[in-house]
Amino acid sequence: MWDLDGNEYLDYHAGFAPYILGHSDPDLAEAIISALRAGKSNCGSGPTEDEGRLANLFLQCVPFAEKVQFFNTGSEATAQAIRVARACTGKPHVVMMQGGYNGNHNMVAANLMSTREQLGGRRIQGDEYPLVPITAGIPDVEQALMHAVEFNDLSAVETVAGKYDLAALITEPVLQNVGVVKPQADYLAGLRTLADRYGFLLIFDEVKTGFRASLGGYQSIANVAPDLSTFGKAFANGFPIAALAGKQQFMDLAISSDPARRVLVGGTYNCHPVPVAAATACLNKLMDPELDVYGTLESLAQRLEDGQRKLFDEHNVKAVISRVGSAHCVYFAERVPECWWDVLEFHNFKFDFDYRRALLERGVYYFPVSCKQGSISFAHTEEDIDITLAAMDDTLSALGRREA
Ligand SMILES: Cc1ncc(COP(=O)(O)O)c(C=O)c1O
Repeated sequence: MWDLDGNEYLDYHAGFAPYILGHSDPDLAEAIISALRAGKSNCGSGPTEDEGRLANLFLQCVPFAEKVQFFNTGSEATAQAIRVARACTGKPHVVMMQGGYNGNHNMVAANLMSTREQLGGRRIQGDEYPLVPITAGIPDVEQALMHAVEFNDLSAVETVAGKYDLAALITEPVLQNVGVVKPQADYLAGLRTLADRYGFLLIFDEVKTGFRASLGGYQSIANVAPDLSTFGKAFANGFPIAALAGKQQFMDLAISSDPARRVLVGGTYNCHPVPVAAATACLNKLMDPELDVYGTLESLAQRLEDGQRKLFDEHNVKAVISRVGSAHCVYFAERVPECWWDVLEFHNFKFDFDYRRALLERGVYYFPVSCKQGSISFAHTEEDIDITLAAMDDTLSALGRREA
């Protein structure tokens, strides 16, 4: 990437993670240009042949999904998921994770990087946190239906499920809007059990993990089947298309013969031929065994991780690395966090911010906000990783000198 002054950067922000193949992938560009040259346009009269082909590819990739519906953005997909959950359960309340992000709309825009003060000054286990909206304009009646619990705390979900009529629990299977906070063994399976016991839908928001962690989403790594899941970002390497996928009984509410149960699916630009062409070309590349995108990403990510560990040791910096494939985050902490309160308690936010700023000055772009996830792409090379490590070495020396 280059900025207006012509400075060059190795980009690990990747536009908030969609660019799994790298910016301006030539095969995607070619697919889009061919679609436009062939006169493809948006008809707005129901599904197109290309959309059907893309749906088949998608379902080949994500084995737990029985049906899929496309939207433009991840936020639209998560809003639709919650609407479907409310329609089929007839219940209104929704649980989300402290430290999770599921989109910009009123149903979920709360409790992301909340401060200690906003959360009442203490870690809450076994119950919900105070609701901390991340936007003005959510009416009290809607806020009363939203509940945030700590990730990896099954007892909190159970308490909330006992108190309210829950339609759904929505969670990123790995919290990747506060770095990379992984589920403990059996946490996601535990959520599955609670969803079945209390009759709410389990929604995995795979907008970040989908097609980045693996072709089948993190659900296929964890081997836990959600009722619904949402995808975006890496699905089309940065073009605006998203997906809601899941079990047929829930997806089919869109075509229910009972108008009282039927769920509206609207969107002028749903399945516009440009993002459909981009997503199709992207999945074809991600599925290509000869390209081995995921194997390459893993080996680049391992190279960066090993190099960083060595540097932190050499510079005597207290740091841990959390990583799922190409998604990675350094926490300047003694141990890897398992929830947002761990991040608040253990992570050195100031050092992280200074580290990111200093890396930017050395041509390495990690988003300059503490504990934001970094993303390696298939366009990165081993040489890029080594240049990055050299910049990190220099940064740590400079920060060390300053600290001294
Ligand atoms: C996990 C997750 N869900 C949903 C969204 C919303 O997606 P979009 O920005 O495409 O609306 C995001 C965006 O960052 C996300 O990270």
